[in-house]
Amino acid sequence: MTDKIEIVGPQKVEGIVHISGAKNAVLPLLAASLLSDDSLLLKNVPPLVDVQTMLSLLEELGASFRIDNERVDSQKISLKTDSINNFTAPYEIVKKMRASILILGPLLAKFGICTVSLPGGCAIGVRPIDLHLKGMEALGATIELKDGYVHASAPNGLKGAEIEFPIVTVTGTENIMMAAVLASGTTILKNAAKEPEVIDLAECLNKMGANIFGHGTDTITIKGVSRLHHAEHCVVPDRIEAGTYALAAGITHGKIDLIGGNLRQLLPSFIEKMEEAGLLFTDIENGIRVESSGTIAPIDIETEPYPGFPTDLQAQTMAMLCLANGVSNISENIWENRFMHVAELGRMGANIEIHNAHAKIIGVKKLTGAQVMATDLRASFSLVLAAIAANGKTVIDRVYHLDRGYSCVKEKLADCGVLINRLK
Ligand code: EPZ
Repeated sequence: MTDKIEIVGPQKVEGIVHISGAKNAVLPLLAASLLSDDSLLLKNVPPLVDVQTMLSLLEELGASFRIDNERVDSQKISLKTDSINNFTAPYEIVKKMRASILILGPLLAKFGICTVSLPGGCAIGVRPIDLHLKGMEALGATIELKDGYVHASAPNGLKGAEIEFPIVTVTGTENIMMAAVLASGTTILKNAAKEPEVIDLAECLNKMGANIFGHGTDTITIKGVSRLHHAEHCVVPDRIEAGTYALAAGITHGKIDLIGGNLRQLLPSFIEKMEEAGLLFTDIENGIRVESSGTIAPIDIETEPYPGFPTDLQAQTMAMLCLANGVSNISENIWENRFMHVAELGRMGANIEIHNAHAKIIGVKKLTGAQVMATDLRASFSLVLAAIAANGKTVIDRVYHLDRGYSCVKEKLADCGVLINRLK
């Protein structure tokens, strides 16, 4: 894929988008295949760069897989991990994708050993993994940090424990849950993450023979079992992709039908806030219709763990609020540096003031096209939304970020009457 997108605005979004499987569900599900003595068949897998990265990591460990295309934006992947012969996740792969850390729990549980590079920093902040490591130690693993790598071992297997997370961590919850599945005895996770992607992973693990309950609440109980067997699982729809396209209708005063998934259940706070901003939501057959009321009202947002407002929709929502008829406020409470898109939106005429973790967005009448640069996955779509609504031509650079987490963007936007060009 090229690295630049050119968009000439303003354009109006009117059409239908099929929501793909969730990136943040499929990544832990792929790692979970390492726990099984048999194969794992995943359906509704989105064809994303991050999925390719996780598959190449699993292959590096000795796993094998087969990919069959279901639709243009969804694949079936059958994984076999009965010949794992390497237990190291190298820096070259981990630096591309922090979620590589998700192999730690499964490898420790199944093989009693794992060496994984410490994640490099990334655009949205330091993103430590201390809670993952403390959780593994609580289950009886030995953890040593050396040369930028985590050396983890549990030669006598893992033992169930009670673990309370000091802060909600999504992949931390997922990693420890996977490790606990094959531990001896029972593990109780307190202050666990309640995200739909955590629930999806627990559901899949239970289909594989695990014994997990309480997922979706802040206390998850995992009773260890001796082995996991073949299972088939359909990946939950991507609520962040859905929210992103809902915002495309909002920022262009358009209308969009989002097909797939129960979005009122997947995005409760987001829908509540969007209704406050003037978007209208109507349930339709197998989805939801999102219509602009013609104006964008200013709103105040605090990003929080599920069921609060998702941090992964913060940048995209800010783009729409640049055109609100008043002053909006966003507090980014999850990541310490997730305002990289603000300077780029400013180049398009947005009026945004940053004070530490708070952004004050003073609505303007219009945005104008400009040369801008994507800095991270969600920021890249924030710029796409602004460019679609802006007057004139925008060229967005470094859009490889976009391909990490959104599939078939050009096609899905074309289905809604929006033309974008990937520059050769
Ligand atoms: C997951 O990241 C998502 N990624 C992120 O989505 C999402 O932004 C985040 O959860 C919050 O919802 C995947 O699921 C693959 P956390 P994760 O552990 O698990 C601190 C996207 O755009 N923390 O819930 O890495 C951390 O610094 C991505 O799709 C520790 O201090 O996030 C942060 O402030 C971006 N120590 C907070 O907890 C730890 O050991 C929440 O992080 C772990 C986390």
